[in-house]
Amino acid sequence: MSQQPIVLFDSGVGGTSILKELVDLLPYEDFIYLADSKNAPYGEKSPEEIIQLSVKNTDLALSYNAKLIVVACNTATTNAISYLRSHYQLPFIGIEPAIKPAASSSEVKRIGVLATEGTLSSELFKKTSQTYAKDINVKEVVGRGIVEAVEGGWTTDEKFISELSEQLKPFKDSEIDYLVLGCTHYPYIIPQLKILLPEHITIIDSGFAVAKQTKSVLKKNKILNTSRKKGLIRIFTNIENTAHIRNLVPDLENISVTKKEF
Ligand code: DGL
Repeated sequence: MSQQPIVLFDSGVGGTSILKELVDLLPYEDFIYLADSKNAPYGEKSPEEIIQLSVKNTDLALSYNAKLIVVACNTATTNAISYLRSHYQLPFIGIEPAIKPAASSSEVKRIGVLATEGTLSSELFKKTSQTYAKDINVKEVVGRGIVEAVEGGWTTDEKFISELSEQLKPFKDSEIDYLVLGCTHYPYIIPQLKILLPEHITIIDSGFAVAKQTKSVLKKNKILNTSRKKGLIRIFTNIENTAHIRNLVPDLENISVTKKEF
């Protein structure tokens, strides 16, 4: 079983930010990445629709013999992971906004969270926020048009940057010292965020934590691939433009990107 692949899915290309962390930490694993770009963004869909799409992606992952699934999407995790865990046998790793480390590191007791509407309105996010940021002022902002810009490849366009700058105003006004990126697409706009936000704001995302958690679950379940042979990475996207997703992961070796209907 340890030779079977780890499968990740996301509403599109964003979860490749998690794939990079996973490949770094687990170079001998085979990975399959399912980019459901056709249905992006998930963040504006109802919880029922998000569950339905997550089930579709999970069934496809199982057809590839997944030994573990990484839900590389905050929106799908916060809305669908408990459903998936109760309906499927294999281990699932999810990703949630990193409220806990931000809240415990904040000196001014004011942090920001930039995430999709689907994540910020989910029960799981509210619970996590109440548990770990009780005494902290949490400024939540719904990211508008960011997923579309990362999917479409226009994150450096002037129009996008000026809209992004407007969206960041509440963070500047509330004088936060930590900004949590609550969507796996957002690490792809970190250079823009660094230019637009005051220098003292630390930006954090959950990518490395997810990779560490995946390794520990593989070990615990005795399904870590110990073959010492560099793993294969297969990316499947359900849109025509395969070059865009390939360009987001220029450093990954042994990789193929294929269009597939799903
Ligand atoms: N990348 C996803 C997330 O982490 C989904 C964004 C979306 O499709 O709205 O939330």
